[in-house]
Amino acid sequence: MPEPVTPVTFPPAFLWGAATSAYQIEGAVREDGRTPSIWDTFSHTPGKTAGGQTGDVAVDHYHRYRDDVALMADLGLNAYRFSVSWSRVQPTGRGPAVQVGLDFYRRLVDELLAHGIKPAVTLYHWDLPQELEDAGGWPERDTALRFAEYAQIVGEALGDRVENWITLNEPWCSAFLGYGSGVHAPGRTEPAATLRAAHHLNLAHGLGATALRSVMPARNQVAVSLNSSVVRPLSQEPADLAAARRIDDLANGVFHGPMLHGAYPESLLAATAQLTDWSYVRDGDLDTIHVPLDALGLNYYTPALVSAASERLTGPRADGHGASEHSPWPGADDVLFHQTPGERTEMGWTIDPSGLHELIMRYTREAPGLPLYITENGAAYDDKPDADGQVHDPERIAYLHGHLAAVRRAITDGADVRGYYLWSLMDNFEWAYGYDKRFGAVYVDYATLERTPKSSARWYSGAARTGVLPAVETA
Ligand code: FCB
Repeated sequence: MPEPVTPVTFPPAFLWGAATSAYQIEGAVREDGRTPSIWDTFSHTPGKTAGGQTGDVAVDHYHRYRDDVALMADLGLNAYRFSVSWSRVQPTGRGPAVQVGLDFYRRLVDELLAHGIKPAVTLYHWDLPQELEDAGGWPERDTALRFAEYAQIVGEALGDRVENWITLNEPWCSAFLGYGSGVHAPGRTEPAATLRAAHHLNLAHGLGATALRSVMPARNQVAVSLNSSVVRPLSQEPADLAAARRIDDLANGVFHGPMLHGAYPESLLAATAQLTDWSYVRDGDLDTIHVPLDALGLNYYTPALVSAASERLTGPRADGHGASEHSPWPGADDVLFHQTPGERTEMGWTIDPSGLHELIMRYTREAPGLPLYITENGAAYDDKPDADGQVHDPERIAYLHGHLAAVRRAITDGADVRGYYLWSLMDNFEWAYGYDKRFGAVYVDYATLERTPKSSARWYSGAARTGVLPAVETA
C-alpha cells in the first residue's frame, strides 16, 4: 500500500514571494537620467556575455511594471523582492537624487501595495554606477561611503511604505566574481582586490543599515542577502576538511564573520596573509559592520563539493560560477571543486534540497533568534511553449516542491523562516549567460516581450493561496 502523503503546510503569516533585480528586468537604460552602471559597460564589452547580450531592453519592466504587478496579484503572491538601480537614482553615484528615478520606484511600490503585495527592496544587486567604478570601485573605501549616502536617499523616499529592506545582494558575487574571476562586472581579475572589495562591501552594509535606520520608521526591517554556500568536503581526510574550511571562510565567513560576530575568521586572515595584510580594515569598521540585523536573507541554489589537490591548480574550475582562467577563490589555488552527484538544472547546478535545509539550520545556529528569509531559490530550464502556447515545466515544479518542503522541514526543526522568494518572477537577463537561461515562473517571449505563466507559476500560486504545497504534476 502506498504511504499516505502528509500535506506540507506553512505558517499562516508566511510570505510567498518572487524576486527580480533591476538590471535583469528593467531595460530603459538611457531613460529619465539613468547613466551606465558597471553591468551596462561590461555587457557592451565584446566577449563578456553570451552572444553579446545586454540588459538594454531586458523584459522592459520599466514600462510594463503595472502589468507585472497585476500578474503577481493574479498568481496570489503576497511579497515581491526587487532592486533599485543606483544610477537611476544617483547617476554619478554621488550627490543629489534624481526625482524621476525615485518616482519610478514610488509608483512601483504604490502599485504593489494597492494589490496587497508586500515589497522588499534590495538596494544593491550588482549595478554599481560606472563613475564609482572609474574611481576605483569596491576595492576603494569611498564606495562604501557613497553607498551609505545612496541608502539614505532611497530610505527617505520609500521608508514610509516599504518595511523590508536588504542592503546588498550576494556580496560574494560582487567581490569575487567581479574582481577575482572577472566573469561579472567590472570584470577585473585581481586576487588581492577581491578581499578589499569584500571588506568595503561589508562596510557598505554596516553604514547603509545605519543610514537607513536614521531615516526610516523603527518598525522597518533591515537585512542582507547572502549566497552563503553549503560547502561539503569530499572525504573526512584532514586535507579535504581543511580545503572545505578554506572555501567556507571565503564564501561565508568573510561576510557573516563581521556581520554576525564582529570579526573576520582567524583562519581566513591566516590563509590570505600572502595576498593581503588587511590593513584597510580600520579601527571601528568591525563595529560598524556588526550593526544588529532585523533579519537575514539566504539565497540558495546548489551545494559545493571540494577536496585538497596535491598541487597548485590553474585554469577554469568546475565551481559552477562560470568559466574563467582566473580563480574567484583567493589563496585557495590548491582546492579542487567536484561535480556533486545527482540531477542538474540547465545551469549545470545539482539539485539538492537537503543543502537548503542544512543552510537554514546552520544560520539558525550562527544567528540564534534572527528571522530568516529565503530571498532567492529557483532553477533554470530550457522552457519552450507547446503548440497551443502553454509552457509546461514539471522539472521546475519538482524543484520548487523539494526546496519548499526542505524549508518546511527546517521550520519544524526550529528555524524561524518567515518567507520564500522564488527566483525569478519571470525569465530575464541572466548576467553573463544572457537570456538563454530561463529562471522564470513566467515565460517571456523575447521577440514580443509577451508574458505567459508557466505551469510552475500556477503550481506556486496554489501554494501561495492555500499555504499548502500542491501535489507535484506527474507526466
Ligand atoms: C543569483 C543572483 C540572481 C540570479 C540567480 C540565478 O546569484 O542573485 O540575480 O542571477 O543567481
